[in-house]
Amino acid sequence: MSIHSVLSDIESDSSLSIAQAFVALVARYFAATRDGSGRVSTPLTADDLALRFGEPLPRGGRDIEAVIARLERDVLPDCNRLTHPRSMGHQVSAPLPVAVWTEALTAAVNQSGAVWEMSPVGTVIEAQVVRWMCDLAGFGPDAGGTFTSGGTEATFAGLLAARQAAIPDAWKRGVGANPPVVVCGEHAHYGVARTIGELGLGTDNASVIPSKAFKMDVEALRRELDRLSREGRMVMAVVATAGTTATGSFDDLESIGRLCEERGVWLHVDGAHGASALLSPDHSHRLAGIHRARSIAWDPHKMMLMPLTASVVLVRDEADLEAAFSQRAPYLFHAGAGARSWDQGLRSFTCSRRIDAFKVWVALQRHGADGLGALYDHLCANARLMHAAVVAHPEFAALHEPESNILCFRYVGREAMAEERLDALNLRMREEYNRSGTGWITTTMLGGRRVLRVTLMNPRTTSADLERTLADLAEIGRARS
Ligand SMILES: Cc1ncc(COP(=O)(O)O)c(C=O)c1O
Repeated sequence: MSIHSVLSDIESDSSLSIAQAFVALVARYFAATRDGSGRVSTPLTADDLALRFGEPLPRGGRDIEAVIARLERDVLPDCNRLTHPRSMGHQVSAPLPVAVWTEALTAAVNQSGAVWEMSPVGTVIEAQVVRWMCDLAGFGPDAGGTFTSGGTEATFAGLLAARQAAIPDAWKRGVGANPPVVVCGEHAHYGVARTIGELGLGTDNASVIPSKAFKMDVEALRRELDRLSREGRMVMAVVATAGTTATGSFDDLESIGRLCEERGVWLHVDGAHGASALLSPDHSHRLAGIHRARSIAWDPHKMMLMPLTASVVLVRDEADLEAAFSQRAPYLFHAGAGARSWDQGLRSFTCSRRIDAFKVWVALQRHGADGLGALYDHLCANARLMHAAVVAHPEFAALHEPESNILCFRYVGREAMAEERLDALNLRMREEYNRSGTGWITTTMLGGRRVLRVTLMNPRTTSADLERTLADLAEIGRARS
């Protein structure tokens, strides 16, 4: 193949008409999914799809029109349709269109956020977005943070900073024979246990606090901190969750924060799901006390409806994050003595990194913090509507009051059934319902029992969609009982 033809393809692909063809494809996708027509998910198996894509490496290129046509024919129809109003699955958003369009810009300018010289505007916008988020969390002028690949990495970074504070020479010498303990609630995201393993602390050094009404039991936490202190164990951090994965519940950050301050313990708040409540006048009270945290994980790609990925770790003192990643790389980082560096690579796990802050900044310009807060409220109001519908339905049991946009419930039928049989039935209902294509929900275990779970991440979902989801599930439940 001649380089001339590749060069000419690159230039013609940069043209307005090709750009419009791509954008038109996405707009058609939006149109075909957001009105609720069509399937929510594919009926095909992974093997079916692998057959479609199992082909020899394309050696020669194709016309751009053929590539776009193939995207429309072979890719889009079998993607899960998160903008469909009955898509109620995991904590992945029906993304804001303005943020979707910004993705093309982010890729086009391709600024690497590790160092200011590679991203003069991007690093500054990232710092500004981080500053706004620190302000919302009630952090002072020393605070800072960085974008991460997700809540899992944000919690990793927060706890790495906690490790550095607890064992300042851990970077060089490791954590020693008696590593400190990390305390978290029983409903903490699995990323916490993973981090404990990754940091070399050993998962045996995780202490798990039971819940009351799906929130960390603060008295049990106090007793555990007392016990660890009597045993002479160092506590590296307490991890509280603001918006648990299973039920969207909020730990009592005020009480936990005060307790941590009393004991001089680092508090990390995993607000990957729920920290966006800070945007909402109606829900921000659930985060009262968050300013007592030393570090916070917050995912705009969840409740700020950003497309994947946009996540942030915030620290009350930016120096903690810099200490955590203390790297020397003279070919890359050129901070002047004493001056704050704009190089985010100093505070971040990754080297090459996208400026995910662009789309968050654009969404804030377009909708304002109040607009995003109103969306947060709307999604939570939908969870309340669903809860009311579950309570009113004789064949379902409500399991908790929703504190955010996540709701778990269980099909119990009209006749008494053994719990084990209901476990199997609920699992089967979810599988059959999702396969039907009319909607998409998830399932989890609560208190040892299999339950159904919805996460309302799409502002287009209406009360009629919620009612229909329950009705369709009940029909399957009756048929399989
Ligand atoms: C409470 C909580 N923390 C962390 C995460 C992980 O976030 P991410 O998938 O962005 O890594 C999740 C995701 O579901 C979550 O619910």
